[in-house]
Amino acid sequence: MIYLDSAATAFHRPPQVAEAVAAALGSFGNPARGGHAYALRAARTVYETRVRLAALFGCPRADHVAFTSNATEALNIAIYGALAPGDRALTTDLEHNSVLRPLYDLQERGLELDFAPADRQGRLDCAELERRLRPGTKAVVCTHASNLTGNPVDLERVAAAAHRAGALLIVDAAQTAGVLPIDMEVMGIDVLCFTGHKGLMGPQGTGGLCLRPGVQLRPFKRGGSGVRSYESVQPMDYPTRLEAGTLNAHGLAGLHAALGWLAEQGREKLYEREHSRMLAFYEGVRGLPGVTVYGDFSQSLRPGIVSLNIGRLDSARAADLLAEDYGIAVRAGAHCAPRLHRAMGTEEQGAVRFSFSPFTTEEEVRLAVAAVRELAAENL
Ligand code: ALA
Repeated sequence: MIYLDSAATAFHRPPQVAEAVAAALGSFGNPARGGHAYALRAARTVYETRVRLAALFGCPRADHVAFTSNATEALNIAIYGALAPGDRALTTDLEHNSVLRPLYDLQERGLELDFAPADRQGRLDCAELERRLRPGTKAVVCTHASNLTGNPVDLERVAAAAHRAGALLIVDAAQTAGVLPIDMEVMGIDVLCFTGHKGLMGPQGTGGLCLRPGVQLRPFKRGGSGVRSYESVQPMDYPTRLEAGTLNAHGLAGLHAALGWLAEQGREKLYEREHSRMLAFYEGVRGLPGVTVYGDFSQSLRPGIVSLNIGRLDSARAADLLAEDYGIAVRAGAHCAPRLHRAMGTEEQGAVRFSFSPFTTEEEVRLAVAAVRELAAENL
């Protein structure tokens, strides 16, 4: 199978990741729940993972990295922790349901919610976002790059506008963590939500959020923390404030190894490889008769995503044909991004998303272009 679905989850990973998970399964106790060697081994790995993530994302404090099971959980913690009925929030048409559904839920209970629009190419209208950002807005929740088109957002501009209005900037970095450069301090990100299983190449079930020191989020989960057990409330120190219950330390051991590998290889080098495969595919398909490619490819920094449609072929049918007849794995349909499909006019057809990784080969790209060319010719 040619795996071109890395935006859904990494498939090819450095072997150190699986080795670290297997080693952890045979050697970890519960982190932060004991002083014996097995518990300490787990606790040290978990802490070092916080340190590596803080360094990667420009988060000033490792204890302000809290772990979750994925980006969705991180976004829920950030959104429900920062916003309440009666507040005002601004988000965008580019967002995934992991942002939209928590916000819609709060909207039903009295949150005032507004949206910055996207155009037919899925580009965010930043000027409109600035116009809609008025004082009294409590938070802006914004993706770093669309999971549907790969279009990036100018977060520094969004952060400047958010902060002028006195709002927090909460960022969904599900598609960009480990892929694009992220520096919370330089970019002005207050809360960065990430997953471990995509660009970071860790195991599924890992993710988290990084907080700028000073940001106050209400706890989302309450429960065992291993500290202050006689207090009736969740401890307010980070990261315990946002973590309750046993962490996925086995998974985090894999993420720790993945982060080590990423640092050794160099994120920039891996990005160049992924980007060049994505561009080669884009150049190969964009002029094909009957093929419509979505997104803005004029930006030099964008995750390795190319979404397209082939004639009027339903995107799910196209994905099935790619899998069955060509052995190519892609994602089709709505990609949990309903507002962006409406903005691009692809609500009915959906889109076929090809997503690349540093492990994608030139030959795989050539075969994928050939498959699209053949399907397009058959469906003209
Ligand atoms: N949110 C992931 C995707 O875009 C799963 O495929």
